[in-house]
Amino acid sequence: MDRGKACLLLVLWAVAHLSSPGDGLRALRRTTGGRRGSTGLTGQDANGVPLRRSKRGWMWNQFFLLEEYTGTDMQYVGKLHSDGDRGDGSVRYVLTGEGAGTLFKIDEKSGDIHATKRLDREEKAYYILHAKAINRFTNEALEGESEFIIKIHDINDNEPRFTKDPYIATVPEMSEIGTSVIQVTATDADDATYGNSARVVYSILEGQPYFSVDPETGLIKTALPGMDREVKEHYQVVIQAKDMAGQMGGLSGTTTVSITLSDVNDNPPRFTKSLYDFKVPESTELGSAVGVIRANDADINANAEMDYRIIGSDGPGMFDISTNKSTQEGVIVLRKPLDFERKRQYSLRIQVDNVHVSPRFFSMGPFRDEATVKIQVEDVDEPPVFERSSYVMEVKEDAARNTAIGSVSASDPDGVRSPVRYSIDRRTDMDRVFNIHAGNGSVFILRQLDREESAWHNISIIATEFSKCSDNPRQISRVPVYIRVLDINDNAPTFATNYETFVCENAKANQRIQTVSATDPDEPVGGHRFFFSLAHEASGKANFSVRDNKDNTAWILTRRNSYNSLQKSTYLVPVVISDGEFPMQSSTNTLTVRVCTCDREGNMKLCNAEALTGRAGLSTGALVAILLCVIILLMIVVLFAALRRQRKKEPLIISKEDVRDNVVSYNDEGGGEEDTQAFDIGTLRNPEAIEESKQRRDIVPETFYPPVRRPAPPPARDNNNGDVRDFINQRLQENDSDPTAPPYDSLATYAYEGNGSVAESLSSLESVTTEGDQDYNYLSEWGPRFKKLADMYGGDDSDRDS
Ligand SMILES: *[C@@H]1O[C@H](CO)[C@@H](O)[C@H](O)[C@H]1NC(C)=O
Ligand SMILES: *[C@@H]1O[C@H](CO)[C@@H](O)[C@H](O)[C@H]1NC(C)=O
Ligand SMILES: *[C@@H]1O[C@H](CO)[C@@H](O)[C@H](O)[C@H]1NC(C)=O
Ligand SMILES: *[C@@H]1O[C@H](CO)[C@@H](O)[C@H](O)[C@H]1NC(C)=O
Repeated sequence: MDRGKACLLLVLWAVAHLSSPGDGLRALRRTTGGRRGSTGLTGQDANGVPLRRSKRGWMWNQFFLLEEYTGTDMQYVGKLHSDGDRGDGSVRYVLTGEGAGTLFKIDEKSGDIHATKRLDREEKAYYILHAKAINRFTNEALEGESEFIIKIHDINDNEPRFTKDPYIATVPEMSEIGTSVIQVTATDADDATYGNSARVVYSILEGQPYFSVDPETGLIKTALPGMDREVKEHYQVVIQAKDMAGQMGGLSGTTTVSITLSDVNDNPPRFTKSLYDFKVPESTELGSAVGVIRANDADINANAEMDYRIIGSDGPGMFDISTNKSTQEGVIVLRKPLDFERKRQYSLRIQVDNVHVSPRFFSMGPFRDEATVKIQVEDVDEPPVFERSSYVMEVKEDAARNTAIGSVSASDPDGVRSPVRYSIDRRTDMDRVFNIHAGNGSVFILRQLDREESAWHNISIIATEFSKCSDNPRQISRVPVYIRVLDINDNAPTFATNYETFVCENAKANQRIQTVSATDPDEPVGGHRFFFSLAHEASGKANFSVRDNKDNTAWILTRRNSYNSLQKSTYLVPVVISDGEFPMQSSTNTLTVRVCTCDREGNMKLCNAEALTGRAGLSTGALVAILLCVIILLMIVVLFAALRRQRKKEPLIISKEDVRDNVVSYNDEGGGEEDTQAFDIGTLRNPEAIEESKQRRDIVPETFYPPVRRPAPPPARDNNNGDVRDFINQRLQENDSDPTAPPYDSLATYAYEGNGSVAESLSSLESVTTEGDQDYNYLSEWGPRFKKLADMYGGDDSDRDS
């Protein structure tokens, strides 16, 4: 042995707690086989050279340590030993690296390594450490530093876990055996590279015999053929995963798999009955449902969708069937009107199919079903029906009363055949022109007809059914009847308008004075043809002639050369007009012809007075209108008067005195604005009264002068003007000599006039008297000085004096 170089001998400590002794041995073997550059302990190498043990060959650099050690004392890991260790205690072993001193402790003297704690491989799988051997006394390193690894040995401390819980899966019903449903997976945290701790095996705990699981892959498959959703839809399958390859002592986990069978169309629709019965009243409206049938289908959704068809019917086209998409019911719909009296029962053959079929199940039989539907028509009491939808009747306008003009006919369509009675809807024949025989429907006329008044009578005839069952309401129906009144030539043609014309006194013979035409309210088929002629009695000594133009007009022509309005002012020409119909109708129409004087061109200049007044004369209509107006006016006046009287009675009464005070009546002219005291003509007539009556109130005297009494003027002359002159002269003198006269001029005008006036006119406008001019002059002269102070205060003063 080469002692020059010391080496560390790592002694492997056999571990008692190895879960698998085989594995531990193997590990030992593996490490043993890892000798580098060494030969076996015995035997030879490939070249036959005897193998020799080399010191370097023992390069133990791995320790193994069991995880999850549960023993009470520290777990022994291994022992460091140096060749230089003589056992005298001079060698000191030192450990550094991961967990040195904490997790791993070394006995300085012996080199024994212990783990201080329980270690978890799943936390940290290995630790790297360094070992040294030094001389305790000299601190000299006996060996170079050596690295080694402590590997934590796995034990099965983790159970398998499924990636999901629960799993949800579906598989179609009726699937073949071995149809994959879902794959479940469980994982194990233990070391998969070592031992069986992570080797999982699946097994089924619940769900047999319907499903199976592949032990290796976890794939769940169907295990039973023909699983029927309609029998059982939901399955709960429990799968177990066990490690240690499923052996005893392995850990396990479970999961639940919810498996639902999905529907396939494996069930045909089936009618619940083979015969359906419906009762339908014959009055059922078209398009309405008369019956609903239903087939059952055990499948769901699209696999239960149904299609109904009528495959046979004894009333083709009468009915239709359609599918109600929300209920999958077959709805039978009426397409043509029912009539109890014609056919009382219908029989239909209905087929139902699935809309979506899967050929896989055709072998199970036809995917359709059939049923019979019987529809019974019920009688409904119906109104009577007229033979025709409308009637047109024609009657000549001269038809006698109670003439039958036609007949209507209606009958009860019901089997009972109730009797029908007829009547006229009086709202359409207000004037009761027609009547109907209630029993047989003959229409009569009740009145004389007149086509010219109304050519059509459109009425409505009612047929009433008298039902034998008294509780049934009466059934009625109506029919329009158009009655046309045919024309009879019962009107004579007349002048189209009221012709009036004139003839010039200087007219020549055969001059046309008027063209006339005719009208006739009758309406002959070929149109009117009128014939004009002069009335027979006038034709002898006729002064005018009629020429038929054969186009329904005629000319009135003169027959003489001259007409004299003095001799005869108006001619009446009788014209006979007849129509060419049968019976012929004719009339005599009078044309009024006035005689007028005309100019050379034949324009009318003057017609005789009789004609003029006749023309100017008011028509009776106008007269009546005027009379009405007058009456209305009178009424209005009377009404106003009445209103006035009423108003006077109102309490607002003004006393008579007040009224009189406010009314100033003048019968004279002049006086001016300041002289509201009208001049009393009486003073002119009676000069003695002047002093008493005349009072001026507009001027208040400053000084008092006693009244001056003047001798009375000379007696009045027969001329009134003389009175005035004298009076004025007197006043003028008075004023001129009056020292109290105001410094301003005042004009007092005394003038009175008018037809009724006693003074006659003094006005410059109308006066034609010779002295007129003079009168003005002194009127304006004395006026300014006119003063009546003495007159005003005379009375009072004399009283005071006395
Ligand atoms: C289908 O039937 C339902 C229920 O009876 C009803 O409400 C619905 O109106 C029907 N639909 C048709 C289209 O007839
Ligand atoms: C209906 O009866 C009336 C009176 O009996 C008779 O005049 C008329 O001709 C009848 N009409 C028909 C259509 O029989
Ligand atoms: C009556 O009916 C006829 C035919 O339909 C029509 O020409 C006429 O105008 C109608 N008369 C009245 C008054 O409705
Ligand atoms: C024709 O005129 C004459 C005199 O002008 C008169 O006497 C006579 O009656 C007229 N004839 C007729 C038919 O008016």
